[in-house]
Amino acid sequence: MDNQAKRELIEAALLARSRAYAPYSEFLVGAAVLAEDGTITDGANVENASYGLTLCAERVAVAAAVAAGQRELVALAVAARGGVSPCGACRQFLAEFGPEMLVLMVDADDPQTVSETSLDQLFPEPFRLSGE
Ligand code: THU
Repeated sequence: MDNQAKRELIEAALLARSRAYAPYSEFLVGAAVLAEDGTITDGANVENASYGLTLCAERVAVAAAVAAGQRELVALAVAARGGVSPCGACRQFLAEFGPEMLVLMVDADDPQTVSETSLDQLFPEPFRLSGE
């Protein structure tokens, strides 16, 4: 993936972060996923007064991409203060549609600071239904 494509995905995650709904934690997160056909879909965290119902930005982005017809994801950018890596639940959710996807973690306060890894590094053994 070239630098321009990475930058575009990062910009999408940063913009999505500006739409985060996080009045309880005040921790704003944006995410963007890239599908194999080049389509970018974004998402932001959406909290709820019933805290446990909160949706992480990554899962919002993946659900939106899949609902729009994408099934194969090749990269994720996630933007938050300090840069964060996806939580465990999101790793499992992401792995369904791209177990080896590139993961770009962006510090929203300093968007040139990006750390790069892959989902199989972060989450080498996703759960799969046996026989599937
Ligand atoms: N959050 C995400 O959106 N993605 C992550 O990878 C970790 C956490 C959200 C959930 C909650 O709204 C806030 O960050 C604080 O946990």
